[in-house]
Amino acid sequence: MTELGPVAWPPAPIRTERLVLRESEARDRTAFIELFASPEVGAYIGGARPRDELERSVPEVPGRRPGLFVVDLEGAMIGMITLDRRDAERPGHVRPDAGEAELGYMFLPEAWGRGYAAEACAAALDWFADVLPDEPVLLRTQTANDRAMRLAAKLGFTEVERFEAYGAEQWSGVWSSVTSSD
Ligand SMILES: CC(C)(COP(=O)(O)OP(=O)(O)OC[C@H]1O[C@@H](n2cnc3c(N)ncnc32)[C@H](O)[C@@H]1OP(=O)(O)O)[C@@H](O)C(=O)NCCC(=O)NCCS
Repeated sequence: MTELGPVAWPPAPIRTERLVLRESEARDRTAFIELFASPEVGAYIGGARPRDELERSVPEVPGRRPGLFVVDLEGAMIGMITLDRRDAERPGHVRPDAGEAELGYMFLPEAWGRGYAAEACAAALDWFADVLPDEPVLLRTQTANDRAMRLAAKLGFTEVERFEAYGAEQWSGVWSSVTSSD
């Protein structure tokens, strides 16, 4: 994973109808631990991590890096969105230099099913299209991850390829502000 590139970070908090996308703060630490310790959240992304290990290893201000947005609902973190450049050796690339940005999303289970992830990801993609115009964004998920697949389709990602990795079928999709309808 490498840095996103020449973007000013952090941007001013991004407000949507119901949410704020912002840089992480010390008060988000408990929610970060919840996210990584949750078996539901980890089901398709490598599993939950032991809570006591997280309590020891998660920094005082977790997740403070370019491309990582905390998603805030009424002052509390409900999830996170990442835009990173990923390893070139992984499959599913659309650019010859394989240096695309990749979108990731993780929300606390109690926040699922209300459209928050869709609302926040759309805002993050808008921000990305603004700071790095004409750049595609990749997304990879297991095909068995129904919620992630539905969200990818809703956001306007289209299939690049399917491949086997980590013992499961994976889906790779691409989004572009040029071809996106919004
Ligand atoms: C993937 C993940 C972010 C999707 O979350 P989600 O809440 O299902 O996604 P959305 O924000 O798109 O919400 C969709 C649901 O909200 C419902 N909804 C309710 N109110 C809504 C509103 N006001 N606006 C839009 N949708 C609304 C939709 O009907 C939809 O329901 P459905 O799933 O039954 O069809 C979440 O499941 C997650 O964090 N998973 C664990 C981590 C993970 O696997 N990440 C993917 C790695 S690639």
